[in-house]
Amino acid sequence: MKIVQISDIHLGAPGEEINGCHPSERLLSCFEDIVAWHSDAEFCVITGDLTEFAEPAAYEFLKSTLKDFPLPCYLMLGNHDDRGVFQSVFDDYFQDENGYVQYSLKTKNGVFLFLDTTKEGTDAHEGQLCSQRLKWLKDALINAGDEPIYIFMHHPPFNIGVHYVDKIKLVEVEDFAETLKHGQNIKHIFFGHVHRMTSVSWRGIQFTSLPSLNHQIPLVPNSVGNEFCDEPPAYGVVNIDDEQLTFHYNTFMQRNGLNQT
Ligand SMILES: [Fe+2]
Repeated sequence: MKIVQISDIHLGAPGEEINGCHPSERLLSCFEDIVAWHSDAEFCVITGDLTEFAEPAAYEFLKSTLKDFPLPCYLMLGNHDDRGVFQSVFDDYFQDENGYVQYSLKTKNGVFLFLDTTKEGTDAHEGQLCSQRLKWLKDALINAGDEPIYIFMHHPPFNIGVHYVDKIKLVEVEDFAETLKHGQNIKHIFFGHVHRMTSVSWRGIQFTSLPSLNHQIPLVPNSVGNEFCDEPPAYGVVNIDDEQLTFHYNTFMQRNGLNQT
């Protein structure tokens, strides 16, 4: 099966510039590229930071844009989102029994789990998996049995060596690690948040992250925070079968012509 991952789209109000780019235009370009080349994907997922300032107009723009996008698109929250505002626009969206935007999807290739790591309270940028959310994850892992399991989450549970994002990673690292032990067959974990393309092996599990569609966080020493740059955006094209997971970082805006010999 093929799936598509997008991350950190950071939408402002329609047409609003964020950190020198226009995220709404980036999203439309990305959707156009996916429709042109990867419309055979079974679904798309956006791994959090749907908006920059959690404005209702930004969520409304996303909702209306998705009406014209042919793939099922699963939405997740990040530290720039507001759960209540999201749920007021995307009413009746997937949620667990405690109202967190967590859900699972069973496919012929395995079980996909979508986590809500957004911390309660305003201006909180670190990740959170409270006991209620971890209980949901534990139950979902147990229910998956020996099926292949793929997890999506916004915040990673580890440092990547960029101080700015390392200080706002998931807080409940050990509780999360303990919970993962209930998964018999975890194949891969996809995350966002760090605005960089990384591949990380953490405690025996393979993780990958994507650049933002809008602005990137540079890999510079002694980062103090708030640095951003316009390294290329990308979306992920993931091919999964019984033997292999292949993750393509698709830097779609730097293709510079598609020539055939
Ligand atoms: Fe972000």
